[in-house]
Amino acid sequence: MTLSELTLDREGLAAAIACEDAAFEAALREEAYRVKVATVGPEVYLRGLIEISNICVKDCLYCGIRRDIRCPRYELSEDEVLASARIAARRRFGSVVIQGGERTDAAFVRKITRLLGAIKAIDTGEDPPLGITLSLGEQPREVYEEWFDAGAHRYLLRIESSNPDLYRKIHPDDPLHAFDRRLQALYDLKAIGYQAGTGAMIGMPFQTAEDMAGDLLFYKEFDAPMIGMGPYNPHPETPLTLSGAPYPSAEKRFSLGLKMIALLRLLMPDINIAAATALEVLDPRGREKGILAGANVFMPNITPEEQMVKYNLYDRKTILRDCPVSGGKGDTHICKNCVFPFCSMGDGLTGKKVVIGYGRWGDSKHFTG
Ligand code: 5AD
Repeated sequence: MTLSELTLDREGLAAAIACEDAAFEAALREEAYRVKVATVGPEVYLRGLIEISNICVKDCLYCGIRRDIRCPRYELSEDEVLASARIAARRRFGSVVIQGGERTDAAFVRKITRLLGAIKAIDTGEDPPLGITLSLGEQPREVYEEWFDAGAHRYLLRIESSNPDLYRKIHPDDPLHAFDRRLQALYDLKAIGYQAGTGAMIGMPFQTAEDMAGDLLFYKEFDAPMIGMGPYNPHPETPLTLSGAPYPSAEKRFSLGLKMIALLRLLMPDINIAAATALEVLDPRGREKGILAGANVFMPNITPEEQMVKYNLYDRKTILRDCPVSGGKGDTHICKNCVFPFCSMGDGLTGKKVVIGYGRWGDSKHFTG
């Protein structure tokens, strides 16, 4: 397949996803990068990622912090979250993402509301107050409203798979894990006025090229202003891994991850696309390569190291080992990526000019116009 043969309908996208020709993939990434720069500019926007808790009421079959897995649980205190947010302000990241396991208890909901106020009050000098994205799962509409009113303006809720049959295979079959409930949550977020981001995992068991093409078309149909999607990475103790269901090799999942970013950039040129942490597990410069394939959002992890190691959605040892905030002595590029993102960018990986949008929210152009 060549780039000129690519069409952005279901059939064309599926053909591109299935095509493993290295020259085609490289040309596609190159074109997506060009379209990104031409449409949203060369800037990469930062969001300091704060993983607030790995306690979760959900029992998703692929996830390493699912309710029924036995693992050390943690919850950051309000002071710890604020200390991380102050790091984001000091480093001029512009925004933070608060992500965590799903919880709907009143104490947790109120804690988030208080934190939103306190984060908005952090002194950022010349910059606007920190932008805030929440990623805390499905909540009643009133909770989404409370958090929106308290200052959150973006919310990330992955659909995980837009194919209801596949969704069913990777989740317990009960009302708490119903596909329709998740979809409704996404529509609630949008109606309230959030920039409602979504995404799916890439390279899962049972997932076909048509499914992945369907995910891209779902993003378009939902008119998502931002997308965070990343490769599936097996966690050794989840039911999905233990079932023995086959999934693509690490190498294939990585190239699929980059290809999905590139195709999405062509399909939705003016949205924000994150270079997911899951890419970094598969390649030490995975997130940088995501940027070079058309992503424009990078999320340096600023969770305190002692807890970061417990936010084990999948096997993240490769990231954590190499990250100086977790005490590692690994590759200096990775260290810089974690703590000083992009110090290593443009240094010969491709020589491309990458501009960091320091101190800015970097809201989706698709949303703000
Ligand atoms: N591999 C990749 N991503 C995963 N997530 C959860 N488990 C895995 C896994 N095994 C992702 C889900 C969720 C996000 C917080 O982490 O897509 O939305």
